[in-house]
Amino acid sequence: MAQSLLKLNSEWKAKVTESLAIKQLTQSSIAERLKISRSSVSKFINGKPITAKNFIRICQELNLDWGNAAAGEPNRNDEIVSFKFKNSNFKANPGGEIAPEEIIGREKLITQIWSILEQQSLIFIGERRIGKSSTLKKMQAESANGMLPIYRDLEGIRSPIEFVEVVWQDIETYLKNQGKARRVREFLGQLQETQFTGFRFPKIADNYWKTLLIKAIEDLVTLQEQQIVFIWDEIPHMLENFSDRAAREMLDTLRSLRQTYPDVRMVFSGSIGLHHIFKNLRQAGYRNDPTNDMYTLDGQPLALEDAIALASYLIAGENISTFNVEKSARDIAEAVDCIPFYIHHLINQLKGLEGEVTQNIIHTIVEDCLRNPLNPWKMDHYRERIDNYYTKEQQPYVLNILDLLAINPPTSFSKLWQVLYQDPQTSNKEMARTIIRLLMKDYYLIQSGTIYSFRYSLVQKYWRFSRGL
Ligand SMILES: Nc1ncnc2c1ncn2[C@@H]1O[C@H](COP(=O)(O)OP(=O)(O)OP(=O)(O)O)[C@@H](O)[C@H]1O
Ligand SMILES: [Mg+2]
Repeated sequence: MAQSLLKLNSEWKAKVTESLAIKQLTQSSIAERLKISRSSVSKFINGKPITAKNFIRICQELNLDWGNAAAGEPNRNDEIVSFKFKNSNFKANPGGEIAPEEIIGREKLITQIWSILEQQSLIFIGERRIGKSSTLKKMQAESANGMLPIYRDLEGIRSPIEFVEVVWQDIETYLKNQGKARRVREFLGQLQETQFTGFRFPKIADNYWKTLLIKAIEDLVTLQEQQIVFIWDEIPHMLENFSDRAAREMLDTLRSLRQTYPDVRMVFSGSIGLHHIFKNLRQAGYRNDPTNDMYTLDGQPLALEDAIALASYLIAGENISTFNVEKSARDIAEAVDCIPFYIHHLINQLKGLEGEVTQNIIHTIVEDCLRNPLNPWKMDHYRERIDNYYTKEQQPYVLNILDLLAINPPTSFSKLWQVLYQDPQTSNKEMARTIIRLLMKDYYLIQSGTIYSFRYSLVQKYWRFSRGL
């Protein structure tokens, strides 16, 4: 079938330019993020026809409604609309940007998140690559009645003023139709003694981040009737980049904003547990818990049936040969603990294979990837982060406990203790207990009744292989 082409409506050019400026994206960065050619992005911006699929993806990246941005009246019955929903279009893309329609499952979780947000703000924390950002993006794409979700990845943010700048830019994007963030612009105008019309804060604003943040939120709440939900992804990463003092002030300011503006909700998400941030702040003398008004939710892998669905769509999309799709999809899902990132990875590995996929092949590939010292599945962070998360005194406990559980069936504390106390470096019983609790907070272990085990069999296997146990 001939590919459908779409081009940008000339009236939308200004919106595209504005969105590029606000999101601080360039043609190259969009091309890189979407894994498409730079010339497609350039054609898009210059109103030349490009494939419908690329057109829609660029619009999604820029938060623009592709249906309105396209010149002419796109035929909603052709493959332009359906491409996103066709299972045969699923491609393995581990860690890459995927369209909301390619994010499988999470419906119950999203309903639960919306329902929590009706009452209070939320901390949505979970193991790396478990699917937090994808859930939040799907949630944003399907926003609930009366809620206005504003998603922002904060990973690269290094100072409070940079954070406030992106919050303000997001607010301005959402206030496009109601008038811009007037209070912020007036304040910046007073600071620089001339009217402010830019999209970036002037240097002089650096010391006024708190005032600017409060004014930006005021602008938003006074002009919006919906419940506003700021979804701030990778906020622990951002806070780690701040000085202790700035992190403390930021957390206190955000808490005070939640109290002053009960219609504003915040979602803090990320893979570094906030307890690590608070630990550093406590060492610096800070005693508050600035998030004790927020509900905490723990990110989980996909439900088994959703993991099987994802694996079977990817099997179809990548034309992988198997005698029984349903069975292979289940084998794939189970082999990687239903973690979608590794389902994508595994499919990536399987697609180069000749012949039919079997359970044996699946298991061999998983083990090869976990053993591979080139770290193709990025598992080494399970070992590396221990040196950052735990003190020198704590590290021997961590390593001993994980080594023991990697090669034993689920084990009780008393059995673990029988081995631990024999090593002079791990002979403090209370410390051993504390470390087990911390390992649970850091997603390594779970407790079931009185016994402990690795939370994910994939991590347990990696641990065994990488440490030669
Ligand atoms: N529900 C899903 N359906 C299909 N693929 C998914 C889903 N969730 C995650 N993925 C895949 O896993 C990858 C990682 O997911 P995501 O970025 O959402 O995880 P994360 O928990 O935010 O990771 P990090 O801790 O690194 O920020 C995605 O790029 C995508 O390939
Ligand atoms: Mg993420």
